[in-house]
Amino acid sequence: STPEITLNSGTTIPQVGLGVWQATDEQTEHIVRFAIDEAGYRHIDTAAAYGNEAGVGRGIASSSVPRDDLFVTTKLWNSDQGFEPALAAFDASLARLGLDYVDLYLVHWPLLDDQRLLRTWDAMEEIASSGKAKAVGVCNFEPRHLKLLADRGGLLPAVDQVELHPHLPQTDIRATAAELGIAVESWSPLGGTSGSGWGPASKPNTLLTDPIITRIADRHSKTPAQVLIRWHLQNGLIVIPKSVHEDRIAQNIDVFDFELSELDLSEIATLDDGTRVGMHPDEMNLGAP
Ligand code: A2P
Repeated sequence: STPEITLNSGTTIPQVGLGVWQATDEQTEHIVRFAIDEAGYRHIDTAAAYGNEAGVGRGIASSSVPRDDLFVTTKLWNSDQGFEPALAAFDASLARLGLDYVDLYLVHWPLLDDQRLLRTWDAMEEIASSGKAKAVGVCNFEPRHLKLLADRGGLLPAVDQVELHPHLPQTDIRATAAELGIAVESWSPLGGTSGSGWGPASKPNTLLTDPIITRIADRHSKTPAQVLIRWHLQNGLIVIPKSVHEDRIAQNIDVFDFELSELDLSEIATLDDGTRVGMHPDEMNLGAP
């Protein structure tokens, strides 16, 4: 079964989860049920902004695994930041999911406006103490955003979910997160979409066809995606590969029968060139409303 990481909330998170960004609501219902019942996933990562929380809820309801054995994450969209808006958005997410709690609720992006971000975090702390989110955290936070919350005092995020893969190993964020006891989750762990991607900075996927990755995959008789997922696991990261294809969904969690060697890891380390497939938080231009 999938290894778990203990969060600073005291709850545990399965280290591999299914990402559903860019899956339609209908696709999501199908792939969530498949992932749980056929492939053995126990962790699903969605967001209000993905437009498929209802599909996640139907997929869970139609699966044969009890809710309490699953780990469900959703996220607060930017336009709902602030104290009251965040509380209302959280309740709306729960209603769409058809759940009475989530395991993890995340702020989707930081804001340029620190004061509003802090009011959002007040709401996240209230949501955590209500028990309706077993843990709360953030996404796309740079070290300075994490330090803002640390300086505030009170509850710290359980996780920071950031774009992270061998081209962008996010060394600074991981060091700050480690100091503060915050777990790191990798989005676009396989190097992102093979298509046009999202946002002005988005780029096509080059990792899945990278010669270093494919050579290592051949060495282990595994696929490039499986090599990349092992890289995240062996780096202590939580990883949420996205696919809408059953064979790939199954493949992406079939990663516990091999290990990358020191040589493999040192070869992969040479791929660090800082390239992103998604948006940098500063590019989001998220000011006050
Ligand atoms: P698809 O959903 O069509 O399978 P990331 O998780 O880094 O954002 O990247 C996921 C991208 O890689 C998606 O475009 C997904 O497309 C594709 N993908 C996911 N799993 C695999 C796999 N095992 N082999 C090849 N491509 C994959």
